[in-house]
Amino acid sequence: VTVSVDAGAKGKAISRDLVGIFFEDINYAADGGLYAEMVQNRSFEYQATEQPNWGPMSFWEVVQRGEAKVMLMVDAADPLHANNPKYAVLKVDAVGEGAGIANAGFGGMALTGGEAYDVSLFAMHLHNGNRWGKTANDGDAFPLIVRFESADGENLGEAQLEAPMPKRTWKRLSATIMARRTEKAARLLVLATQPGGVAVDVVSVFPQKTFRGRKNGLRADLAQVIADLKPKFVRFPGGCLVHGNGLSNMYRWKDTIGPVEERREQENLWRYHQTAGLGYFEYFQFCEDIGAAPLPVVPAGVCCQNAAHSQGLGQKGLPMALMGAYVQEVLDLIEYANGPVTSVWGAKRAAAGHPEPFGLRYLGVGNEDRITPVFKERFEMIYKAVKAKHREIVLIGTVGPFHEGEDFEAGWKIADELGLAMVDEHYYVAPEWFLANTRRYDAYDRKKSKVYLGEWASRGNKFANALAEAAYLTGLERNADVVPLASYAPLLGKIGNTQWNPNLIYFSNTEVFPTVNYWVQQLFSVNSGDVWLEPVVSGGGAANAVGVDGKVGAVEWEKCGFAVSVVRDSASGDVIVKIVNAGAEARSVQVELKGVSARGLSREAVKTVLTGDPAAVNDAKTPRAVVPVTGKTAVVAAGGGDAEIAEAVAGYSLTV
Ligand code: AHR
Repeated sequence: VTVSVDAGAKGKAISRDLVGIFFEDINYAADGGLYAEMVQNRSFEYQATEQPNWGPMSFWEVVQRGEAKVMLMVDAADPLHANNPKYAVLKVDAVGEGAGIANAGFGGMALTGGEAYDVSLFAMHLHNGNRWGKTANDGDAFPLIVRFESADGENLGEAQLEAPMPKRTWKRLSATIMARRTEKAARLLVLATQPGGVAVDVVSVFPQKTFRGRKNGLRADLAQVIADLKPKFVRFPGGCLVHGNGLSNMYRWKDTIGPVEERREQENLWRYHQTAGLGYFEYFQFCEDIGAAPLPVVPAGVCCQNAAHSQGLGQKGLPMALMGAYVQEVLDLIEYANGPVTSVWGAKRAAAGHPEPFGLRYLGVGNEDRITPVFKERFEMIYKAVKAKHREIVLIGTVGPFHEGEDFEAGWKIADELGLAMVDEHYYVAPEWFLANTRRYDAYDRKKSKVYLGEWASRGNKFANALAEAAYLTGLERNADVVPLASYAPLLGKIGNTQWNPNLIYFSNTEVFPTVNYWVQQLFSVNSGDVWLEPVVSGGGAANAVGVDGKVGAVEWEKCGFAVSVVRDSASGDVIVKIVNAGAEARSVQVELKGVSARGLSREAVKTVLTGDPAAVNDAKTPRAVVPVTGKTAVVAAGGGDAEIAEAVAGYSLTV
């Protein structure tokens, strides 16, 4: 097979931002995942609407050792903040050998020996004269001990928290504990040292080593694997989570900024709990930390069409009387991200520690919404207001849920009517579909809205799935003039806590497992370019591509059974050739790079190969079943001043 490219040609300008990530708090991606908080239900706000057996005391238990006598209850009479109404009250009659409460985090707290952990809580001493009136006087301290313990009661490090607590006043107490040894499943105990009454709330444990050392930060190992993808953008906070389970459950960005104890916690539509500890400020900061453009998605003023609240009742939208304020909320988000520190919302960003703007360029409005008159009316209000005030923002619309055969017709109609700059397409389909549709955007009308492929995956984590995705990515790259952005979805899945499979990265409390699909995304992301060069492929003959589960589909790409893409990166001058061989047979390939020797090409090319058994999966048992291997390959001078690379391209492989 010969792949011939005029490497010095002008080529076609394409997006250099093609590969980004889709982050949604699904599968415990945020709370219990990327967000490094180790206490589960830290604010006693869990509810039965999330899981039938959940409530404010879920994941907490009473500690009552020896002669200790403790009573635990939930109260809401003197909340820390209206957004955080419930808290725990401990009535201690006798301390014995341990009186208090314990939390085992999200399936056990993973401690690393010798590392420091920041422990904090809000406490309120309930003094004489109140219903627990016992021993203490106004102004007395109520010392508490915070301690890490193993399951069999070994003390893994502790600290005493002490501060004067004037009557009925919440006080934040904090300490640092060094873990005495590594333990996968520790618990945090909060113990009283004297009889009396004390209220506690927002009990928190963070490793000091968060990603980039940020306070209220992210799990370093997990964030690093995401950073290593070198995503060009981060879409957040979802997904269906954005429009939520009913109007009151929408993800409202203002609820997620400011001190964590003042953020509005709420049910997660994926049937667990959102603390909003990982909120808009933290998302923006993470984007900046990894060099990715932020791409927030806000609700279009309607809730999820799949939500129980709206099922069978038609789609619910915010009442028109509230839409003016809602439109302003969206405009305020742009000000929060980009406005000067002298602006109302820019000042809040500065107060959070980031006076410089976050450089917001993209804003998604709506997620997979059904395109109804209710949606349309609200979407148009938001769209027109943003367009009038912020021409610098690329507003991304949604074309609704994908049903094979329909191809988003209703969504496209409104996009065409409004002349949207970009729309968000989603599809989760079989790998065979991706193999057969690598040319989906080739004949796309370049005058229409550009496409953000906001969610896509081939419904599996086998290498055959990843190869189908690699083949599809060659088609996206070829069309990255009209498909400037694409994000595989979902990004994260916590083993044992998934509501959705497949995901790009799996993790436990202690380990991170990038899938084979991850390596495909990574290879396309780190090997991106801004110019697409047309490859002329000849020889070979058609080949069969393998689908998952042994299903074989005859796919004729470029007439040789390969999917090929060639790009040039103007910044480095690199010419990057990607070849996907989704068939079993190895092939010898001649890559002819015309017009490059005069450009001082090096004599060696860097070659990275991802190859393996199409049924292979990178999981906890075989985390590195298929991973990229990088080496060198010779570049030889051919006749007429051209360069050539001769390669044996393995069966089932992506070669870069
Ligand atoms: O990625 C999982 C879900 O799939 C998203 O929340 C939703 O947008 C889509 O249906």
